[in-house]
Amino acid sequence: MHYDIAVLAGDGIGPEITDGAIAVLIKIGEVYGHTFDFHPYLMGGCAIDACGTPLPEETVKGCLASDSVLLGAVGGPKWDTLPGDKRPEKGLLGIRKALGLYSNIRPAKLWSALADASPLKRELVENGIEIIIVRELIGGIYFGERGRKTIDGEEAAWDTEQYSVHEIERIARIACELAMKRTKVLTSVDKANVLESSRLWRKTVHEYAAKHYPELTVNDVLVDNMAMQIVKNPAQFDVVVTSNIFGDILSDEAAQVTGSIGMLASSSLGDTTLGLYEPIHGSAPDIAGKDVANPIATILAAAMMLRDSFGLTEEYAAIERAVQAVLDKGFRTADILSEGTQKVSCSQMAELIVEAIS
Ligand code: IPM
Ligand code: MN
Repeated sequence: MHYDIAVLAGDGIGPEITDGAIAVLIKIGEVYGHTFDFHPYLMGGCAIDACGTPLPEETVKGCLASDSVLLGAVGGPKWDTLPGDKRPEKGLLGIRKALGLYSNIRPAKLWSALADASPLKRELVENGIEIIIVRELIGGIYFGERGRKTIDGEEAAWDTEQYSVHEIERIARIACELAMKRTKVLTSVDKANVLESSRLWRKTVHEYAAKHYPELTVNDVLVDNMAMQIVKNPAQFDVVVTSNIFGDILSDEAAQVTGSIGMLASSSLGDTTLGLYEPIHGSAPDIAGKDVANPIATILAAAMMLRDSFGLTEEYAAIERAVQAVLDKGFRTADILSEGTQKVSCSQMAELIVEAIS
């Protein structure tokens, strides 16, 4: 098959890590008989510099015309003082919204070769961790009404968390389906002891699950408790569904527990097979251009694209195996380096993974 892939390399380490993922996709194409065309578009700080906006119209059109989208990372200190709607992050939020990508899947998995990289005690991680966070991606407080006003002569600002039933139901469906294929237990995270939007979330998730997935167990966990449980006993969780902001925060925490945020990929999908695939980490401006970043999260994101957008499960597994093999041989980028392992650069890591695909 032939696939057209829009590439939004973005800022900071974005170009280095997407280069690694592209090299891996090209190799997969050679081995499995697919061809890929890669179409670069600007998004984030680089787009602000070139076109004065973080999300040019051409980028949205290009993504909509492609089969799927590969993204590096956006943002950096250079653009940190711009007003909210002109920041690089606005481009990322905007492309997710423009493509209707309401479902963001972020698997936090502990690779056996990296057990030592986890900051948790050995006994908490030795049986493996795999938390799959299903994050609602285009609703809630990141997209709600916001503003600034003067109250009693003082500057004030506000943001709004709002969810409607259909927004909760469609993400609940994704999470329920995933949980049914796995442990048949779903954890739903909210703050229903305080927030009205969370009370609607909880009620809707339960009603939806009871109606469509009677065999599924849904457990509710309050977000503050969840933050604690992820470090106390991460192995207790499998599929977790939550709102945009809680998913953003908890996925970074879950990533760190598994050793390195440089390993975690994510897929964002809506009602079609056009998805956006990206590492969950940021643009790491401090190490940009030094060829020391970890490309594995982006390489695994490309693997998720093959599986989730194109249905290429064998090709997905081949990339996962290659990553595993390279880690087993002891090669590490700086972020996951430990005693007795061998340090490699970003490009070397990508090259090793390419070579390990057969
Ligand atoms: C993420 C990032 C983004 C988000 C930012 C850069 C807008 O933190 O993908 O987790 O909040 O979703
Ligand atoms: Mn985040």
